[in-house]
Amino acid sequence: MTRTIKIFDTTLRDGEQSPGATLNRNEKILIAKQLERLNVDIVEAGFPIASDDDFKAVNEIAKTITKPIVCGLARCKKEDIDCVAKAIEPAKKSRIHVFLATSPIHMKYKLKMEPSQVIVEAEKWVRYAKQFTNDVEFSSEDAGRSEPEFLHKVLEKAIDAGATTLNIPDTVGYTQPQEFGCLIKGIIENVPNYDESITISAHCHDDLGLSVANSLAAVMNGANQVEGTINGIGERAGNTSLEELIMNLHAREEFFNATTSINLKEIYNTSMMVSNLTSLMVQANKAIVGKNAFAHESGIHQHGILAKREVYEFINPTTIGKETELIIGKHSGKAAVKDFLEKKGFELSETELERITKKIKDLADKQKTVFNEDILAIAGNIKGRLSDEEIFVKLEDLKIISGKNVEPEAKVVLLVDGIKKEGVSKGVGPVDAMAKAIQNAIGEEFKLKNYNLKAITGGTDALADVVIEVEDKNSNIFSAQALDEDITMASTKALIKGLNKAFAYKKIYKKSNKVEL
Ligand code: KIV
Ligand code: ZN
Repeated sequence: MTRTIKIFDTTLRDGEQSPGATLNRNEKILIAKQLERLNVDIVEAGFPIASDDDFKAVNEIAKTITKPIVCGLARCKKEDIDCVAKAIEPAKKSRIHVFLATSPIHMKYKLKMEPSQVIVEAEKWVRYAKQFTNDVEFSSEDAGRSEPEFLHKVLEKAIDAGATTLNIPDTVGYTQPQEFGCLIKGIIENVPNYDESITISAHCHDDLGLSVANSLAAVMNGANQVEGTINGIGERAGNTSLEELIMNLHAREEFFNATTSINLKEIYNTSMMVSNLTSLMVQANKAIVGKNAFAHESGIHQHGILAKREVYEFINPTTIGKETELIIGKHSGKAAVKDFLEKKGFELSETELERITKKIKDLADKQKTVFNEDILAIAGNIKGRLSDEEIFVKLEDLKIISGKNVEPEAKVVLLVDGIKKEGVSKGVGPVDAMAKAIQNAIGEEFKLKNYNLKAITGGTDALADVVIEVEDKNSNIFSAQALDEDITMASTKALIKGLNKAFAYKKIYKKSNKVEL
């Protein structure tokens, strides 16, 4: 019989741990709603003890989405579990996820606990969590490097204490598919009180590029839940890329004898939304959701495709909701824009809708064709705007001189936390001069680290999409993205947004004693 594998999405928790990928509360809610549309089984909404803002985001999500189980992460500590219990309280279906490391290296150097103590702690805190909800997940952090016999003992105690899901993380992305598959099989065969009412889950990281392969090996060996993130974002090299995992199970259902309940048509929208809001670009050749995933360049391939699509394409891009037809144009009104964007998961206020429609029309005036990607990028950009309380840096004025035989020079006036600051600089080009002038004005507290420019669609009149990274003195990275038809303006807007994110972290979010995982 075909098994249905549960999909546990941790984009808003593990995914948000990607360097630079800070999401504000509104952005998290928007993504959570889209995950509901995608029909994931569980949404891990955050790590509530981490900060007041994380708590509020998890709490808002628990109030907002009703179909998926809403889950919050907790260390094996009373204050963490109490905090999750409070945050997820309004959810229709809720889960507490507690974790404790079980590998020799983590127990000795991170936890500074004897293995016997780890067994006691795991049991104690699962039992404690159980009083708040019947649905408790236990994760044995760094299971991939744990001794199997010891791991079995910890898991046995977690089941005794009432854990209903046992999650097996390959925290550092170290294992190989066969090895990880054996680990899962060994758990099923050797944990004495395991029975089919317990869900075995895989949680893999991509340090060796094997997270999807390892998760599939886990499924083949009896796991019935897989954890991962949209676009595979996450700590270091990231997590299991859910769209890849899901499409493997879909395209090769007979091979795996397993499927998911995912609404496949929402995959592309979800990927675009997460990429736009996190400012983490999807690499062009990424499987399933990359820009080139269904592009056929060589003549032989194009010929084959024209003769019969399946010659080179066994997945039709429309399966994941990737449409090629153009829907919105210069003459489309607000209603058409609203309808198009609602289908893509955007709920818009009247002001947002007006702003987006105006941007589309402006672009259509300058650019012959406005593509769906342009519209989604514009909507993501406007939805991802910072709230008034998050704005500390404002651009008052910008002047740039550039031309043949003229060394580019920029002069910028900023309002930084109410104080006027000016910067002047020359540069190798106008963007470089502008960035250096902003850096001059702002001082050494924040540094522009990375700069990335792409034209969303072809043509010299295309919308420029700039992603930058700002780094603070503690090496925290803040990514920001902005769009404009003018490259220098897109770059300036992205830079100001990145600075605002860094300031907001310092002034609002960090104030709440952020706890790191
Ligand atoms: O990778 C990991 O071990 C985790 C746990 C907290 C589940 O993310
Ligand atoms: Zn993880």
